[in-house]
Amino acid sequence: MSDESGKGLTREQWGSRLGFILAAAGSAIGLGNVWRFPYLVGENGGAVFVLVYLFITVLIGLPVMLAEFAIGRAAQRSPVAAFRALNVSPFWGAIGWLGTLAGGFFVLSYYNVIGGWTIRYMLESLGGLMETAATGQSKEFFGHFIGQRQQVLMFQIVFSGATMLFVLSGIGKGIERACKVMMPALFLILVVLIIRSLTLPGAEAGIEFYLKPDLSKLTRSTFLSALGQSFFSLSLGLGIMLTYGSYLGREERIPSATVWTASLDTLIALLSGFAIFPAMFAMGFEPGQGVGLTFITLPAVFAKMPAGQYFSFLFFLFLFFAAVTSSMSLMEVATTFAIEKFNLKRVNAVCLMGIIIFLLGGYSAISLAGDPKVAGMDFLDALDYLCNNVMLPVGSFLVCVFVGWFWLDPALKELTNNGKLETRWWLHVWVLCVRVLAPIAILFIFLNGTGLLETLDTWLRQ
Ligand code: TRP
Repeated sequence: MSDESGKGLTREQWGSRLGFILAAAGSAIGLGNVWRFPYLVGENGGAVFVLVYLFITVLIGLPVMLAEFAIGRAAQRSPVAAFRALNVSPFWGAIGWLGTLAGGFFVLSYYNVIGGWTIRYMLESLGGLMETAATGQSKEFFGHFIGQRQQVLMFQIVFSGATMLFVLSGIGKGIERACKVMMPALFLILVVLIIRSLTLPGAEAGIEFYLKPDLSKLTRSTFLSALGQSFFSLSLGLGIMLTYGSYLGREERIPSATVWTASLDTLIALLSGFAIFPAMFAMGFEPGQGVGLTFITLPAVFAKMPAGQYFSFLFFLFLFFAAVTSSMSLMEVATTFAIEKFNLKRVNAVCLMGIIIFLLGGYSAISLAGDPKVAGMDFLDALDYLCNNVMLPVGSFLVCVFVGWFWLDPALKELTNNGKLETRWWLHVWVLCVRVLAPIAILFIFLNGTGLLETLDTWLRQ
């Protein structure tokens, strides 16, 4: 993303189609798959959440992703400028602003904190982590670690610094090269982990929890959490995939790139669950651990493997890379914003935004260690809720309404490469989804999950 101004018409393009898919998958695959997905599954009753998640990803996530890629490639701009370039009402620019605020600042701020954890865990794998985990103390280890503010802040700085470096190194060189190696490596090590996890005595209960839906666990918030997680995991709703789409060559097929990206992302999330839940039950951990689930369970599995410390080290190294390729997509948004608004040089923009984001994230890190709380939640949880359960759905809703009702013909042209690709059945399904199904579903799930529907209902009945 070496286009300094974000305004030029000749944008640098991805080296190859594979490069694009890997970069889009690099943004999508990250902590969302390995850290956030499993802990939400654990908190929301297991398989039933997985089921709802898959439904939502196919019916809402995929169509929104197609829409974002189409807007991005047509406009050839970053989100805020894109809607201006398409000559549509300035109102739609709100999507860009929302995305910049939510993604570039809010999500990234706490993403850096968790990213820092991966570095600490990577180093500790070769230190005392395995011995502690072997005695069943991985939960205490985690609790102790997040209570050490200076440690957490220090690793947050290291992670942020890595993100900034990657962003400065530009599109072709940094992202593509890293993704090509790290993603397959993460996949392989997950497979090894799954085999170990599934062969632990007592693993069956975990498989059942993960695969056998218990419909009585379904609540209003299950749907909203699954919706938010689907957007978060696919990097949607904030105009990030829109930005990536703007680097996609004219001849590339958007639909197949979309299906690949979404499938790889979903695959990694599902595999993470297979690595975690069987082991979690075998070791007697609780599913509703919250944010610590992955960091508590996996070291315990590694401790039961020969050469576990090396596997553990490599795993957290790959996870770190997966996280950086996601955080750099978020950082890119903040950077472009600063370049366009304040006319800064790229280096200065990255540094300025890096500092602001660090300060915000530091607050999350400190709140996990004890105080302060927001509405009874840790600051990190509160920010996470605001972004994923409010801002991402709102952003995606707007994308659907925009594309479905105000920009459908140009979108269809983009998706068929100006009529060069055949119009297939799925294109009609897509139209139905973005125009009707997805906006209504998002609205309903949002109002229902936040309790607003109930409030509205009592109000109307009065
Ligand atoms: N999808 C990434 C993950 O799963 C996180 C992420 C990157 C993201 N870009 C985003 C989330 C844009 C929301 C919006 O870890």
